[in-house]
Amino acid sequence: MVGNNLPASIVGPLLAIESSCDETAVAILAPDGRIMAEHVLSQFADHAPFGGVVPEIAARAHLSHLPALVSHALAEAGLTTADLGAVAATTGPGLIGGLLVGAGFGKGLALAAGRPFIAVNHLEGHALTARLPGLVPGGVAFPYLLLLLSGGHCQCVAVDGVGRYRRLGGTIDDAVGEAFDKVAKLLGLPLPGGPGIERLAALGDAKAFPFPRPLAGRAGCDFSFSGLKTAVAQAVGALPVGAIPHATAADIAASFQAAVVDVLVDRAGQALKMLPQATALVVAGGVAANQAIRAALHGLAARQRIALVAPPLRYCGDNAVMIGWAALERLHAGLAQDGHDQRPQPRWPLTALSGSPENVSGI
Ligand code: KG4
Ligand code: ZN
Repeated sequence: MVGNNLPASIVGPLLAIESSCDETAVAILAPDGRIMAEHVLSQFADHAPFGGVVPEIAARAHLSHLPALVSHALAEAGLTTADLGAVAATTGPGLIGGLLVGAGFGKGLALAAGRPFIAVNHLEGHALTARLPGLVPGGVAFPYLLLLLSGGHCQCVAVDGVGRYRRLGGTIDDAVGEAFDKVAKLLGLPLPGGPGIERLAALGDAKAFPFPRPLAGRAGCDFSFSGLKTAVAQAVGALPVGAIPHATAADIAASFQAAVVDVLVDRAGQALKMLPQATALVVAGGVAANQAIRAALHGLAARQRIALVAPPLRYCGDNAVMIGWAALERLHAGLAQDGHDQRPQPRWPLTALSGSPENVSGI
């Protein structure tokens, strides 16, 4: 069941919750998007002993951290729940336990305060982050090419407007962040693997290992990373038994990262050909924090004479500011609905969102 359309503006600040994976995040945004408070609590330590995110542990951690995080955010902004204009939370895609906790908490708060609840798609949060006030004067104009690079997602999306997304291509196997995490594991680095690989790569020789560049040069803008990951596993397997020497690990990290960079530049270049009217190349998701990737995409965008828009590092990974901002964008576009009845969905592709009010019931 879908709720009623909400008015395009709210009377007070919006509280946003993100809990779709292993970050518990809360933010408060003024109706114009100004950030009044933001907190992100990573659960790395909780999951580290298991070598990956354990959904049940994540859900319990969200449950135990959310109340204090919300109280902190409200205190920091000098507000009480009675001052809020609306509450938003991620309702998908993601791990169902965490989504249930965040959405349930958000709905409860909204109900108690007598305010609307806005259900936000996590990927739409990443997609619209580039339009956060203050990043690009006047905001990035539609349409733009979104390169969504995270632990669970890897896709090229034409962003035609708020709620109007076309998937131009995506990974046919692993997400790029997943590849970073798997290679980090092979090298004995802690999760999430991306930052550790990036630091190690800076010390290595990117030409030491001739890893493949899957799908590079092919038409379209799909990605594939499983062959690259396997090539790294084989290179590690061929090393003498025992701990990997630091210099060798650095060479593997640098060679792997160089392969990823080449693939991303090639695929993004193809995607730009598919969206020649793009005003900008926008990179989002946790992997967008990688400086080598940012620099290479910057070069691509410069060659194509369009801007590269990469959000500040703290908004690349999962956070609640992007959830709050997506809710405000939906409100301003007249697309937000009261989501008290909306159930969390582990799978919820961007293309299932609708930008036309008549079609919103398709969500
Ligand atoms: O967007 P995000 O925080 O969560 C998902 O929605 O997946 O992305 C997390 C992913 C992880 O796979 C992590 O290893 C990767 O982003 N990541 C990086 C870097 N920082 C985080 N990958 C490469 N380089 C980085 N500096
Ligand atoms: Zn994410």
